[in-house]
Amino acid sequence: MKTVLVLNGPNLNLLGTREPAVYGSETLADVERICAEAAQSLGLRAECRQTNYEGQLIDWIHEAGRACAQGELIGVVLNAGALTHTSIALHDAIKGAAVPVIEYHISNVHAREAFRHHSWISPVARGVMAGFGVAGYGLAVSALAGMVSGK
Ligand code: DQA
Repeated sequence: MKTVLVLNGPNLNLLGTREPAVYGSETLADVERICAEAAQSLGLRAECRQTNYEGQLIDWIHEAGRACAQGELIGVVLNAGALTHTSIALHDAIKGAAVPVIEYHISNVHAREAFRHHSWISPVARGVMAGFGVAGYGLAVSALAGMVSGK
């Protein structure tokens, strides 16, 4: 059974209590459940990880590239949090690892502050999704699976 990796970056461990008017009241445990259910319905296994550290995300992207090359992983759903708007290193990691990435944001970043409108991830992502709340992680898992299987 192939895996889909779901990576969450800085501050997403605070889901549920962090700005609920923006991010809702569901927690990271809910994200994991939603991803597990979406993956299972597609015959896949979801693995969810969260870190507050840029270097850790980069290491995980590199690992994902190797797992993809070995046929164990279909790709990554990535919510890099604020690193989306700042990290050229993450941009380079995705490009270098040649791993299919769906960029995801819980909130509609384009309807928010101007500093959230630019993403260093988008130019190297296979797809970009935003604003569907926590449920959107499941949509992103399905979208990635459909994309890599050519459906
Ligand atoms: C976010 C949007 C980012 O701008 C913000 O820094 C986050 C979360 C989202 O999921 O909506 O941490 O990626």
